[in-house]
Amino acid sequence: MDLYAALRPLLFRLDPETAHNLAFWLGERVCSWPHLPQPQHPDALRRTILGLDFPTPLGLAAGLDKGATLLPLWQSLGFGHVEIGTVTPRPQPGNPKPRLFRFPEAGLILNRMGFNSEGAEVVAARLRNRPAGLIVGGNLGKNKETPEAQALDDYRAAYRLIAPQVDYVALNVSSPNTPGLRNLQAPEALKPLLVGMLEVRKEMGLERQPLLLKLAPDLAPEDLDAIVEVAVTAGISGLIATNTTLDRGVVAEPLRTRVVAKGAGGLSGAPLKAKAREVRRRILASLRGRLPLVACGGLGSAEDIQGALDDGAALAQIYSALIFEGPALITRIHQGLVAKEF
Ligand SMILES: Cc1cc2nc3c(=O)[nH]c(=O)nc-3n(C[C@H](O)[C@H](O)[C@H](O)COP(=O)(O)O)c2cc1C
Repeated sequence: MDLYAALRPLLFRLDPETAHNLAFWLGERVCSWPHLPQPQHPDALRRTILGLDFPTPLGLAAGLDKGATLLPLWQSLGFGHVEIGTVTPRPQPGNPKPRLFRFPEAGLILNRMGFNSEGAEVVAARLRNRPAGLIVGGNLGKNKETPEAQALDDYRAAYRLIAPQVDYVALNVSSPNTPGLRNLQAPEALKPLLVGMLEVRKEMGLERQPLLLKLAPDLAPEDLDAIVEVAVTAGISGLIATNTTLDRGVVAEPLRTRVVAKGAGGLSGAPLKAKAREVRRRILASLRGRLPLVACGGLGSAEDIQGALDDGAALAQIYSALIFEGPALITRIHQGLVAKEF
């Protein structure tokens, strides 16, 4: 029986953040079961990327498990990797509520969470008990009150605590919900940030640990090309594309008016699919195989993910589709990827 399908009517009647907290409360109970099932993925799904052995290309995108509280559950559900975070160096509450809205008829989520984070110390301590065999990425951000000019200090502080506990680190410079954060994507700002982070990686003796950069879908094609050159030249390990979009034009009327009425925030889910794919294709063309790309944004089926892999992405991540379809989607994606039947 699909437990999520049974619970969904209840969850979707609740305010989205209350539903999230209830699902996490249940998830924590499940994580304490001594014998959670461990899915065995077929060999056809395995791949070595960034020097890491991924049992499947499918991972959980950042933002759902910000505090790394449900890692055994994600592993049991079949994800090959989980990106925890965004973690900020110091704890912060995030934006005032309401800040999370779902539109099930369109498979769309609007969020302006604003990096609610327990802070890097707490999350790092929790990661010390992470389950074996699951690849965990640590997605890092800066605190809201930290001026843009001091952003590097924040990323470094979070890195020092989180990096020793994870398999890769992702720098999030693409959330639309922290004022000024996306300015760090500008090549003049990005270069010193990446160089500074590669320095701290070296200082900590973690040269072999992949360092990735997560990008927004709202960048112009020429900006994407410039960012790719900065990333390759600096010597980081890979890119993740994309984060949520600010573009309300991805939503058709009459829904768009309702979405706009909810106010600020980033959009994710099915309406982001075409835009994210276009951005990824531009990045891949610009990369010419020099770095691996992790696909994210609007992916909701085996066909979508096979499409992203066929475009040249190395791995794929989902978030919104999981909320609407539940964990059974993970198995459906894996079956579709193996059978290549869509
Ligand atoms: C509620 C919510 C919170 C998110 N929080 C983060 C975050 O903290 N850090 C981050 O890098 N991305 C965050 N994201 C973006 C997702 O990781 C992903 O890039 C985006 O949702 C597009 O994928 P999707 O269409 O599969 O949801 C968040 C997305 C949602 C819906």
